[in-house]
Amino acid sequence: MTWRGRDVINILDFRRDDLDRLFSLTDQLVESDYRAPDLSGRSVALIFLEPSTRTMYSFYSAVNRLGGSVLPLSMAEATSIAKGESLADTIRMFDSYADLLIIRDKREGAAYYAAEVAESPVINAGDGAHNHPTQAMIDLYTINRLKGGIDGLTIGVLGDLKYGRAAASFILGLTLYRPGSIVLISPEELRLKSEVRDYLDSRGVEYVETSSLRDVVPDLDVLYVTRIQKERFPDPLEYERVRGSYRVDLEALRDAKEDLIILHPLPRVDEIAVEVDDTPYAKYFLQARYGVYIRMALLRLVMGV
Ligand code: NCD
Repeated sequence: MTWRGRDVINILDFRRDDLDRLFSLTDQLVESDYRAPDLSGRSVALIFLEPSTRTMYSFYSAVNRLGGSVLPLSMAEATSIAKGESLADTIRMFDSYADLLIIRDKREGAAYYAAEVAESPVINAGDGAHNHPTQAMIDLYTINRLKGGIDGLTIGVLGDLKYGRAAASFILGLTLYRPGSIVLISPEELRLKSEVRDYLDSRGVEYVETSSLRDVVPDLDVLYVTRIQKERFPDPLEYERVRGSYRVDLEALRDAKEDLIILHPLPRVDEIAVEVDDTPYAKYFLQARYGVYIRMALLRLVMGV
């Protein structure tokens, strides 16, 4: 499928060969630490209606390195949204100011809706607990680059599999490949949400569920860790019950394979001890760095440069 002009809403809108193309372009950009005025004269709207550090600023950095300009909207309070403007009207306006819209919103389906309203391509930078396709692209790319592929690996996903969109998109993204095994590790209360579970079941993708990291750590080639999504719990008491319920520290990694890699979409709260940062397992800051190059490659493909 062609990349040019495409909306990026859900990782499952892509096929493995689409990602192969994105990843090989990203490799080139990483290796040359690419900068060029490819987007000169073009502008990208960053409509961020939910907190963000990495996603927002890595897109910002990607546009800058490609010589484009950015129209940032991150303080909804300071704009007409605070006066009651609808999302549709906001999107329509930005559609006429920018050549591409990147949107993050706490409402599930917001990016889908924006893509229906806008003529320019729309990239989903996170819609509630739903999708975060560009994060999944970064995660899959990082594994592919560091491990030489994804097929055959034993991949553990630890954390909040109920409310986390990064974990959900990553797990869905794995179904485009043939990992040896998918191991879902979470407290009972935060087990995989039904929409992702149903998808795995419908596709016959096998997975193992456990609440014990210790039991499975010796098997893992990749450990993908996520934080508990405190802000998405409808009931604060529910959060209190699971708070601090898992933590990756040196002790937990005692029986890990020597070449295990640990990823995390970040931000980290307390689920990975800082002592792990100095081990060769820790690849989460490198993963965040690759995020800029993935997003540069994505901008180039979608904008047809
Ligand atoms: C993730 C998100 O916003 O969903 N962060 C990110 O984009 N890197 C994960 C999270 O907030 O826990």
